[in-house]
Amino acid sequence: MRIDVLTIFPEFFGQVFDFGIIRRARLAEIVSVNVHDIRDFAFNKHRMTDDRPFGGGDGMVMKPEPIFAAVEHILGTTNREDYPPRTRVVLLSPQGTVFKQAVAQRLADETEHLVLICGRYEGVDERVNERLVNEEISIGDYVLSGGETAAVVVADAVIRLLPEALGSETSAANDSFSDGLLDCPHYTRPADFMGMKVPDVLLSGDHAAIEKWRHEKALEKTRSNRKDLLEGENGECES
Ligand code: ADE
Repeated sequence: MRIDVLTIFPEFFGQVFDFGIIRRARLAEIVSVNVHDIRDFAFNKHRMTDDRPFGGGDGMVMKPEPIFAAVEHILGTTNREDYPPRTRVVLLSPQGTVFKQAVAQRLADETEHLVLICGRYEGVDERVNERLVNEEISIGDYVLSGGETAAVVVADAVIRLLPEALGSETSAANDSFSDGLLDCPHYTRPADFMGMKVPDVLLSGDHAAIEKWRHEKALEKTRSNRKDLLEGENGECES
């Protein structure tokens, strides 16, 4: 997979892709990440990337021209109808559909080239959405000061799902959300820490009993922290 990030703050991404699974995936050439400064594509007098909103109001709006020029540079076209296959252009904004594990999985499965546009200010000129963007994504119901943090979240969640990214010792199949439940609790040594004991079943070597315990604990955690995950679309209980 190739990921291109468009931002007015390229320095923000300094080392964020240099750790753990993401670093390993990059070194193994499972993914490459390129960060582009939108300002490099602003060819007006002051290299402005934002301007006042038509119709008045507070704040500034990101101008379309530099973003179109950046996408043209990366994809060779400014019409989403003409993008190469398995290419997705995503705009990060609080107006987007909410990012979930299933969205990360779909992007990991179906995309070879992912372009992440980081919105800033009061918003991005809507013509970017109309012509360039395949999907607008929000990472949650809160407003960040920009799409950069969200782009890191999306890139991280997608990269770790790419085949081979996790390595043999871990698997995404046991992740929270992969089966609609939160992950179960985990313990490591010591078996007794300050009088707090690891549940006996985990020390028993009985794999069937351990699996049963883990499922029960996952259900318990989900019921307590995220009841919404157990409710179907019409509010009925699935598990
Ligand atoms: N930009 C500002 N807030 C955001 C959010 N919640 N998700 C994605 N991009 C954003």
